[in-house]
Amino acid sequence: MDKRILVPWNMPEIGREVLRKSKAEVTYLHGPQGEIPTLKELTEAVRHADVLISRGTQEVSRKVMEANPTLRGIANYGVGYDSVDVASATEFGIPVTNTPGVLTETTADLAWALLMATARWIPQAHLFTLSGEWKVGARTFMGLDVGPGGSNQPKVLGVIGFGRIGQAVARRSRGFKMKVIAYDPPFKGMIEKMKGVSYRDLDALLRESDFISIHTPLTKDTRHLIGERELGLMKPTAILINTSRGPVVDEKALVSALKQKKIAAAGLDVYENEPKLTPGLTKLDNAVLLPHIASATMDTRGQMGVLAIKNALTMLQGQRPKNIVNPQVLESPEYLRRIGK
Ligand code: DGY
Repeated sequence: MDKRILVPWNMPEIGREVLRKSKAEVTYLHGPQGEIPTLKELTEAVRHADVLISRGTQEVSRKVMEANPTLRGIANYGVGYDSVDVASATEFGIPVTNTPGVLTETTADLAWALLMATARWIPQAHLFTLSGEWKVGARTFMGLDVGPGGSNQPKVLGVIGFGRIGQAVARRSRGFKMKVIAYDPPFKGMIEKMKGVSYRDLDALLRESDFISIHTPLTKDTRHLIGERELGLMKPTAILINTSRGPVVDEKALVSALKQKKIAAAGLDVYENEPKLTPGLTKLDNAVLLPHIASATMDTRGQMGVLAIKNALTMLQGQRPKNIVNPQVLESPEYLRRIGK
């Protein structure tokens, strides 16, 4: 039986334990600090694998897939799978899976932490306190209310992308008495039937929202969904939060909007060219920047590993994995040849 799994990144221990108990032969490929291999190293290593467990920080290109005509599957560790060339995988008969569900609540928590931190200047105020500059009457860190505030004005939360994570973010807003509006064209009908949320087209959402949180996958339709024009529609007091994928926002346009105070602030966990940041982003005092940690808790990252491994082991056996993103591939002659049928 084919049983070789390649893990070209530093998988958490809970996942390694599951792999140890499986009968699979596992190769880990990463540097001592968890550095991921180069594309060349990955392409070479994939030749000796039956299934690859990839992660979002690593491009799985057509070239990587071409290197192994008998690769049985790619199990992505993460819900977003834009780093995998799914079109090529489908053409070659390679099933691709992701890890939806297990990271929904953790990612929504982080989106809220970022929203609160950005609105109330938490990281800046923390650094100020540590700096020894604190004197009575010195910088006051006047923030924006997330709840109704002293004047009892409920705020509007605009959610772009109303899938599992977008809905979990909206649920958390109840305690803040916010009005929730959402934009997600494929789910318009579903949203219109839901309680506690109203559908808006993108421009209306941008104009009305006090806080905008992005939860859409990266596709050709969502790349640069938020650019100069869209930022220009937002209120000057609005805050933009992005925990989805960096390229959904035109980062250069965002830096310029933040510099010119066209919007109040942004909280980002994701970037256009991770880990590189657009020049000027780190110089802004109205941006809170995190290093792509939305799903990073021991529990959730562990469960993502377990789910990715389950998908990988199912694909090793030539069976249908639960979280397949290109199910049409299972009927293709290319796939049947790969699994020897
Ligand atoms: C995902 O699951 O897509 C996350 O970005 C990984 O942390």
